[in-house]
Amino acid sequence: MTGSKAEIIAAVDEALGSLLPKEDMYPPEIHRAMRYSVFAGGKRLRPLLVISAADIFAVPLKHALPVACAIEMVHTYSLIHDDLPSMDNDDYRRGRPANHKVFGEAIALLAGDALLTAAFATLAGAASSCFPAETVIELQRELAQAAGTSGMIGGQVVDILSEGKAVDGQTLDYIHFHKTAALITCCVRSGAIMGQASPEQLQTLTGFGRKIGLAFQIVDDILDVTGDEKLLGKKTGADAGKQKATYPALYGLEAARKKAAILLKEALECLKPFGPAAENLKELARYAVIRNS
Ligand code: IPE
Ligand code: IPE
Ligand code: MG
Ligand code: MG
Ligand code: MG
Repeated sequence: MTGSKAEIIAAVDEALGSLLPKEDMYPPEIHRAMRYSVFAGGKRLRPLLVISAADIFAVPLKHALPVACAIEMVHTYSLIHDDLPSMDNDDYRRGRPANHKVFGEAIALLAGDALLTAAFATLAGAASSCFPAETVIELQRELAQAAGTSGMIGGQVVDILSEGKAVDGQTLDYIHFHKTAALITCCVRSGAIMGQASPEQLQTLTGFGRKIGLAFQIVDDILDVTGDEKLLGKKTGADAGKQKATYPALYGLEAARKKAAILLKEALECLKPFGPAAENLKELARYAVIRNS
């Protein structure tokens, strides 16, 4: 493997630092706002997933890094917008005041837009020096689909429209698969795409990503009920306050916990065909589901 978890996170942070515009570049307000949220902490689960999936196919860390950073930029943009008063109206994120609390709503909105745009610039620029043009196009299509209305945006729309309503299991799964699992699946698929995986291998990793992605959001829902605000870096009890569609709300805490555990077990089984090469990805799957932050 390319290094320990801490070493990979350090490499991701360094790459993000060089890919994002410097703080003092004019107009500094926007570049400060972008960096504020990107470097506020965060588990870096998505870049770790990209790099661990790519590692199965022996893609060098240096080549996987820009792709990992692009997805982290999209994720951070989604958090900035998710916290806005017109969305979840949350004041804390990654252990600090939310972006709009520091920079104001207009700049927070623009910082999110700028990170989304920077993600695609990163794929086009940095990634194209590492991969053939067809691979770069495939990576761009993958991220666009995962982030757009067929993915995260679709999920966020139904999440917002479902507030205060009694939703059924099918709608709840639509929300979770789209708002969260789509981008997480994109991470492992991107690793496979960089590694010229076979269609079967891509299919296997897609199944893994969907299971881990759903489990991750179920655990996020659970931690909103049972978690420690200090460890999470965000306020708890927010979902109940907004009558959000969540697993604990629909099925109860115990059933939600069981579901996450089953999904983790199934996800780990998906990785069997890869043998020991998938050990890091397995470890990350456990970390994504068995966590308190
Ligand atoms: C939070 O994601 C938003 C969800 C999709 C549940 P993370 O829990 O990965 O947030 P960071 O990146 O660690 O801050
Ligand atoms: C967020 O889901 C999913 C995103 C696409 C950002 P949540 O709204 O549950 O995430 P948190 O709990 O605010 O991190
Ligand atoms: Mg939300
Ligand atoms: Mg939220
Ligand atoms: Mg949540």
